[in-house]
Amino acid sequence: MEYDGLEAVVAGVADGAQQIQAKVRAAVLAQAVGTTGETNIQGEVVQILDTFSSETLVNTLTQCGRVAAIGSEEIEETVFVGDSPAHRYLVQMDPLDGSSNIDVAVSVGSILGIWKRDTNETITDVTLLKKGHEQVAAVYTVYGSCTMMVVATRESVQGFTLDPEDGMFRLTNQNIRIPEKNSCYSTNEGNFKGLDSGTQKAIEELRNTYSLRYVGSLVADFHRNLLKGGIFLYPSTQKSPEGKLRLMYEANPLAFIAEQAGGAASSGKKRILDIQPQKLHQRTALIIGNKDVVKQTVAVINGL
Ligand code: AHG
Ligand code: MN
Ligand code: MN
Repeated sequence: MEYDGLEAVVAGVADGAQQIQAKVRAAVLAQAVGTTGETNIQGEVVQILDTFSSETLVNTLTQCGRVAAIGSEEIEETVFVGDSPAHRYLVQMDPLDGSSNIDVAVSVGSILGIWKRDTNETITDVTLLKKGHEQVAAVYTVYGSCTMMVVATRESVQGFTLDPEDGMFRLTNQNIRIPEKNSCYSTNEGNFKGLDSGTQKAIEELRNTYSLRYVGSLVADFHRNLLKGGIFLYPSTQKSPEGKLRLMYEANPLAFIAEQAGGAASSGKKRILDIQPQKLHQRTALIIGNKDVVKQTVAVINGL
């Protein structure tokens, strides 16, 4: 069967998410907020919960017996899990997104992209560097006022909510489609002066049309836009000329979900899902949300 075992991978994500949400919600009481004192491959301060989330998902994805290799924001190198014929999937993940928000009780989440492996192929670092349009599924979770898990396959986008009574994820949002009507724009306006003129013009147009909503956790900003309509932008800035967000485990999974729900995702130069990755942790600019608003915004950015 084409996607044999994919449900076991998603179940592994659900199991990991269940453990992470419990830890996140208890973190302040358990003095488990704050940093480990290290910096990761990105040169960013590592939160205690970043490491816990990465280790938890590596464990549950290993235990599901279907994942051959994992790329994680928190781990510099590829994690090689197993190369039997049953190990048919590759996972790229941001185990905890928005971690600067943890100690102020603002929503965070996990983001994962799932690709199929060619089981005749020996797994190397390059194996994980597949284009986003080759994903077979993508998942994100939001640890917010409730814990939600959104799963996109090539067929549909389904939303599940964790029932705290029994720890089960229940189907609550069937066949999610991004609303036609755009309600907001989401960007860090503090970066405005460091943007190129085309991007400044695009943001000025959005500013004059929509309300601004910006949580500072990509996954929370994206989830709101997916359910209510909206556009999120993290363009290239003077501080982050390549963009701040990571292609493989932030932009690609959310771009897959956005397109499956009728939306669009661009780097400003190219469809996100068409970008050929060169490095595991490479960054990209990201403009994602309602298809027509993304198209119009990218046109203005490029002076069209
Ligand atoms: P992470 O916590 O995985 O490093 O991701 C943080 C990202 C993303 O969640 C968010 O959209 C962005 O950082 C916010 O960046 P600014 O604080 O520069 O706006
Ligand atoms: Mn992130
Ligand atoms: Mn992260």
